[in-house]
Amino acid sequence: MSQDRILMDRFGRTFPYLRLSITDVCNFKCSYCLPDGYQGDPDGFLGVDEIRRLVRVFAQLGTKKIRLTGGEPTLRKDFLEIAEVVSSTPGIETVAMTTNGYKLPERAQSFFDAGVNAINVSIDGLTPEKFHLITGKNRFEEVMEGLRLCQQIGFKPVKVNAVLLKDLNHTELDAFIAWASTGVNLRFIELMETGENREYFDAHHISGQVLVDQLEHDGWIEAPREAWAGPARVWKHPSHGGSVGLIAPYSKDFCTTCNRLRVSARGGLHLCLFGEGGHDLRPWLQRDSDADRLKEEICQLLDLKVAGHGLHQHNTGATPHFASIGG
Ligand code: 5AD
Ligand code: SF4
Repeated sequence: MSQDRILMDRFGRTFPYLRLSITDVCNFKCSYCLPDGYQGDPDGFLGVDEIRRLVRVFAQLGTKKIRLTGGEPTLRKDFLEIAEVVSSTPGIETVAMTTNGYKLPERAQSFFDAGVNAINVSIDGLTPEKFHLITGKNRFEEVMEGLRLCQQIGFKPVKVNAVLLKDLNHTELDAFIAWASTGVNLRFIELMETGENREYFDAHHISGQVLVDQLEHDGWIEAPREAWAGPARVWKHPSHGGSVGLIAPYSKDFCTTCNRLRVSARGGLHLCLFGEGGHDLRPWLQRDSDADRLKEEICQLLDLKVAGHGLHQHNTGATPHFASIGG
């Protein structure tokens, strides 16, 4: 593989990490994301050949890690084929995926066998009732069983994502932290405002500081940030396993550690989760021989990446909800 140059923006940030959405469709109804369920047109997503060309070019530009996201990526009938194509691309060292855990007990092994080596499972509530209330699905037991299986199979790492929600789960931080102590790698995400959730955001956004206070009270210690680690802060406990992370997009300096780019399920390059629209890469994904032009295009687009998002001004960009761009 020839790696001709490394993607770097005007602020010196490099991008070893690409989040690739492969579908908008989701079968859950998370109250902060798709409260009425998926309403879009489930058509026109990148095909396997387009994905192969895209990933190959990103790998040649220094991308080492690809996360398959959605929507719910595992709803793609060709999910395993996609995972195989991505994991066999020279230069890609980590293939991660984010899933809501649907049918995970039956399918986890096949994901691993297709070359997925890291997995994030979303679990926003720790009882069947809470889980149902937040995700609209009564699948708590199934998702927990799938999670345990992933830990046995040997994905590294297995992480649990939970969106921190005022009144819905922030009152259960004790239980979440106790669970992390058993060896679970938990990661809280502060609720972010999107085009469609303003009212919900006003009702349920709570600063991650409540978590930080609780962790410090319980003797957890913030781990030094590793180089190129991305925007999460992580705490560990001196006397037990597990970890608790926090992704706090409203905190100062959040964007300076940005190490990721996003491509939407229809081939739009998003320079920021909260940027305006995507830049269509599809015209250069139709033939292997367009690889150099695609590379050129991506490098030029990167010059447009701005220093930080405008969330503090309620500028949520063009993202109606995260199912459309993969979180
Ligand atoms: N704010 C924060 N996190 C969100 N996610 C989806 N929508 C939002 C939002 N508005 C999370 C999901 C999942 C990850 C892909 O993104 O819960 O864990
Ligand atoms: Fe689906 Fe993820 Fe959105 Fe929940 S957060 S509705 S699992 S896309």
